[in-house]
Amino acid sequence: MDVKIALLAGDGIGPEIVAEATKVLDRVAEKFGHKIEYRPALVGAAAIDAVGDPYPDETHAVCLAADAVLFGAIGDPKYDNDPTAKVRPEQGLLRMRKSLGLFANLRPVALFDSLADRSPLKAEVVRGTDFICVRELTGGIYFGRPQGRDEEGARAFDTCTYTVSEIERVLHVAFRLAVSRRRKLTVVDKANVLETSRLWRETAQRVAREYPEVAVDYMFVDNAAMQIIRQPAYFDVIVTENMFGDILTDEASVISGSLGMLSSASVGAEVALFEPIHGSYPQAAGKNIANPMATILSAAMLLEHLGLDAEGRAVRRAVDRALAEGVVTEDLAAPGEKARSTSEVGDYVASQI
Ligand code: IPM
Ligand code: MG
Repeated sequence: MDVKIALLAGDGIGPEIVAEATKVLDRVAEKFGHKIEYRPALVGAAAIDAVGDPYPDETHAVCLAADAVLFGAIGDPKYDNDPTAKVRPEQGLLRMRKSLGLFANLRPVALFDSLADRSPLKAEVVRGTDFICVRELTGGIYFGRPQGRDEEGARAFDTCTYTVSEIERVLHVAFRLAVSRRRKLTVVDKANVLETSRLWRETAQRVAREYPEVAVDYMFVDNAAMQIIRQPAYFDVIVTENMFGDILTDEASVISGSLGMLSSASVGAEVALFEPIHGSYPQAAGKNIANPMATILSAAMLLEHLGLDAEGRAVRRAVDRALAEGVVTEDLAAPGEKARSTSEVGDYVASQI
């Protein structure tokens, strides 16, 4: 198969972790007889520095022309520490998601057996964890207007809006996923307080009738935040709005031992995008210490999305072997265990394909 991948490395550790993922993909291509062509493009602070725009038109065109997009990370402390900056790297990511129509972000949270003792949570709590959070990605408070300040700058406002059709389409993604898994869906909202959440719940109750085989339950987000670390094995598929999904999945990453392990797929329209859920970790940039597994596992999701299931499985097995052999970066190394560098982990995973 000939595969064209748009490569958006972005900021901070982005270029390093994406390089390890392409190392693994190249090995897959070699072993399975595929041809992968990469089209690099600018995004985030790197794009602002180069052309003054965090998501240039040219990058959008590269994404549209690709079979899939592999994305690294976005964000730079020089903008985090300047709340008055008019152009921000994150705007690039949001515009990219919106303009590519990527309304559903699938974030699998599973325990890797060899990491059961690396989670800060007790092994008996995290054992058996295997759920997917479906995060709505192009609506809610991230995109609602108006957003801004009043004239004196003493009052600020963001707006959370959702339409029925925005809610329905992401619910269908979640229900279909639940049908293919253990047939359990948890709808997370704050319907006791927020009108948008009440619309979510009402819509979910209606859509649920189309999926009688799925057991649906409803949970307020504060309770969900607690249950995710109290009894993570309870969940099969979670569906929730944009910001709740952002927060809950960072929390959920603790189960797997490191934020550096969680991959994701953003889907909705023609082209899908694959990205680790973590950020640009600027403190580690250029040091060859960041965990490349989330990006490597995102590459596995990319292969599976293209129908290359055996190839995706091969990547997952190689990751499992690296974890079992203790070939891990410092975020996962046990006390007294030698932490490997980003590129050593990538080399090892590639060697196991
Ligand atoms: C994520 C990130 C982004 C988000 C940031 C970088 C804008 O935290 O993908 O979870 O909030 O969506
Ligand atoms: Mg996040």
